[in-house]
Amino acid sequence: MTFDIIAKELRRPTIFKNEGTLLPDYVPINLIHREEQMRALSRIFRIMIDSPGIASQKAILIGDVGVGKTAVAKRFGFTLETIAKERKINLKYIHVNCYKDRTFFLIMKRIIQTIMPGFPDRGYSAQELFHTIWNFLDNENSYLLITLDEMDFLTEGEAPIYFLSRLSDEYLNRKQRLSLILIVRRIESLEDLDGRTRSTLLHNIVKFERYNSNQLYDIVKMRGQEALKEEAISEEVLRMIAEIAASKGDARYALELLWRAGKYADAEGSNRILPEHVRKAQADVLQIPKNIILELPLHERLLLLSIAILLKKKGSAHVTMGEVEETYKVLCEEKGLEPRRHTQLWEYVQDLKNLGVLQTKVTNMKGRTTLIGLMDISVDALESILR
Ligand SMILES: Nc1ncnc2c1ncn2[C@@H]1O[C@H](COP(=O)(O)OP(=O)(O)OP(=O)(O)O)[C@@H](O)[C@H]1O
Ligand SMILES: [Mg+2]
Repeated sequence: MTFDIIAKELRRPTIFKNEGTLLPDYVPINLIHREEQMRALSRIFRIMIDSPGIASQKAILIGDVGVGKTAVAKRFGFTLETIAKERKINLKYIHVNCYKDRTFFLIMKRIIQTIMPGFPDRGYSAQELFHTIWNFLDNENSYLLITLDEMDFLTEGEAPIYFLSRLSDEYLNRKQRLSLILIVRRIESLEDLDGRTRSTLLHNIVKFERYNSNQLYDIVKMRGQEALKEEAISEEVLRMIAEIAASKGDARYALELLWRAGKYADAEGSNRILPEHVRKAQADVLQIPKNIILELPLHERLLLLSIAILLKKKGSAHVTMGEVEETYKVLCEEKGLEPRRHTQLWEYVQDLKNLGVLQTKVTNMKGRTTLIGLMDISVDALESILR
């Protein structure tokens, strides 16, 4: 019985042609509307190909959630690797996600595992691993382009600083074998860097604006053509998805809507995606997944917890930023933490708003006040996740 149910389900027709191309890890060959950023990166890192070893280049990619930072860095890195190979230059691209590897040591470990598989990484310090990497590169006459992605998540703020200062000081008179791409959502994440490092970095900022509705339309269309059968997608549905996602400017959200809507179409045995499938998908995606909340940096979580506590205590739909800050400070005190500054807290509110966790509204009662409320998630559920 069970076997038959499964076998039958697996034989059902599907509107997907290549579902894998809609999954988060897939890096599209073409990144439409990111031509400017690709050109900027090419100019910055050109020297690695023209005169390898002359300089250690660094670039920062900045932009909101789902604007293509990771995809652009990866596609650029892989392509540079290919072009270097044609020119007989030994260049390797390594993409490190700082959410997974949160310390300098873990970053070094990740790099070593990639370039020297099988190297016993136990019993070495981060510095020793760094030297080993460097010697390996010297011996092989190789170069690395490393991306430190999601740097906002580094618990150890010093990791990149350490990295960068080692690069510029100790190895000054040797061939420059390491270049870096740093990815952050906000410029404040680089606050901890010392002035000199920061000012050299600030020369090479590549900004990613949020996508507008037309751009999202083009993206969803292109990715849809790759993933779905031709008759499965209509203009109407593509427009609808682009418009829904345009409020956030987030391509990930748009693609997730497309994928989920496709799943609904399959489940209902429809040979194309209908607006109703998109609406169902939208209702699903809006539920903020627990892991998104758990992945937030500590102080952002504390801020969110303060909001949840206050909303519950007051039993109202909104709280003011002033109230939130007070509660947040008390929480920090309880935990023996230094509270973040006002401007930083504002950034957190913006970020939580972009993630779809919060909504804000400005009123003119008693001067301009910002009211903060929660979107589509119960205070109790949120509090239990955060606690
Ligand atoms: N211009 C584009 N063309 C095609 N697909 C895109 C484009 N921009 C983004 N995407 C896709 O949208 C999704 C989100 O992009 P990406 O992961 O690069 O965002 P991000 O800026 O790194 O976001 P986050 O800050 O959340 O990490 C990915 O699946 C990516 O492949
Ligand atoms: Mg990313």
